[in-house]
Amino acid sequence: MAEQTTPILTTEDLTKRFGGLAAVDGVSIQLNEGEIVALIGPNGAGKTTFYNMVSGRMTPTSGRVLLRGTDIAGKPPHEIARAGIGRSFQITNVFNELTVRENVQVALVSHRGKSLRLFSILGRDKALHREADEILARLGLESMAGLRTGTLSYGDKRLLELAIVLAIEPEIVMLDEPTAGLTPDETTAVIELIRTLRAERSYTFFITEHDMEVVFGLAERVLVMHRGQLLATGAPEEVQKNPEVRRAYLGDEEDSAA
Ligand SMILES: Nc1ncnc2c1ncn2[C@@H]1O[C@H](COP(=O)(O)OP(=O)(O)OP(=O)(O)O)[C@@H](O)[C@H]1O
Ligand SMILES: [Mg+2]
Repeated sequence: MAEQTTPILTTEDLTKRFGGLAAVDGVSIQLNEGEIVALIGPNGAGKTTFYNMVSGRMTPTSGRVLLRGTDIAGKPPHEIARAGIGRSFQITNVFNELTVRENVQVALVSHRGKSLRLFSILGRDKALHREADEILARLGLESMAGLRTGTLSYGDKRLLELAIVLAIEPEIVMLDEPTAGLTPDETTAVIELIRTLRAERSYTFFITEHDMEVVFGLAERVLVMHRGQLLATGAPEEVQKNPEVRRAYLGDEEDSAA
């Protein structure tokens, strides 16, 4: 029983300063296993900085990041990935000159610490080939496995990015604006896909998103950041009604209009 109530991820007073600016200022959150949680907030609120600290791309100035109770703050990204936190990027992060399947194979091999043998393995290892194809099939990309990645549409590249995240067998899947730049149909498909993936393997999804339709269509819980601090947390409808949250968004629009 106790285990079920232990959050999978906790941050305690997590803080990042850039000179005089506290980009993230004492943020404490909890994610429960299997939840879909969205992190929202106006531009510059500190979302990406917060993500960077959780995934190991930035060392916190202070505070703790606990993955199932173990402090991982300041550990390098590959260790954090191996511990179970997978992350995609706002900017597409794939090798265009490799095939779609090879991109997934690279992720599988490098996750297992065999990167030196990578190019001798590519194309030869049948098990690896099959494993990559299974991941691609889960994302509906199986027919593209042999194509050069550079020829894919932007939307399919973003799906490939998700395949690369899944290749490291994460428990927590962190997606920074997964639908940015997608068409409405592609956006709907990604929402469906995230729901299906969660139902299949009970991943915990932690998503930043500017598109409120995506946030309200997908998230079970919403965390709102504003000027480095956690302003509100709750169910999407609660957060939407919260006057402080409304003021934060409107206030920032007025600031930028001025
Ligand atoms: N490497 C850095 N050095 C200095 N300042 C930074 C750095 N990275 C971010 N900042 C500043 O920290 C604040 C938070 O930025 P961050 O990118 O985390 O916001 P965000 O919520 O992700 O914004 P957006 O919605 O535009 O992606 C901003 O004021 C930004 O200019
Ligand atoms: Mg950002």
